[in-house]
Amino acid sequence: MIIAVDGPLAAGKGTISKALAEFYGLPHMDTGKLYRGVAYRLLSTGLSPQDAETAAKVARSLSMDGIEDADLRTAQVGAAASVVAANQAVRQALFDLQRNFALQAGGAVLDGRDIGTVVCPEADVKLYVSASPEERARRRQTELEALGEVISFEAMLAQTLERDARDSGRADAPLRPAEDSHLLDTTGLSIEAAVDKARLIVEQVRLAKS
Ligand code: C5P
Repeated sequence: MIIAVDGPLAAGKGTISKALAEFYGLPHMDTGKLYRGVAYRLLSTGLSPQDAETAAKVARSLSMDGIEDADLRTAQVGAAASVVAANQAVRQALFDLQRNFALQAGGAVLDGRDIGTVVCPEADVKLYVSASPEERARRRQTELEALGEVISFEAMLAQTLERDARDSGRADAPLRPAEDSHLLDTTGLSIEAAVDKARLIVEQVRLAKS
């Protein structure tokens, strides 16, 4: 079974995907990490995420070895990731990694922005996870604070809206729900409640298909 989980920044797709992967015993790929990995490699060597040719070269030879999770979670890397993600050659270079992961025997859970629309249009279950921009900004602010990065709510909200606009407005694989995706709004939901709802959707789809 392939489960595709898409949605904007801090909607809860990572938490939901991990929980679904654990529940169904499937491997999980956070595809945002690949884009963040490219951004991190560029920034840490003083190169610009706007440099399309270099970004594509980095993506084609991407190795995540030696990159810590904390290196990838910063606001700077996140913003640069959405810049490199608008680069078609970067997306092309990262496509096979994601596609091969999805097609492994038994299936997988992948979360990102274009899994249900581009990477795995044939996924068995597609979830589109969203939440209000204010709630997503608050969640991301708390997450960054835990990493020692202090940012005001207003600045976080502005960054969230900017990231949404860049991810939804790009020409190649823009963020949008696949036509056959199931919408899950996590605004006001606890993690447990959001995960329960996601599991219910997956179970209903499995039942309908059996
Ligand atoms: O999900 P995360 O916030 O880690 O992703 C960072 C950025 O990578 C996103 O803002 C988006 O621009 C890009 N991305 C993408 N397609 C994916 C996953 C992430 O374009 N499948």
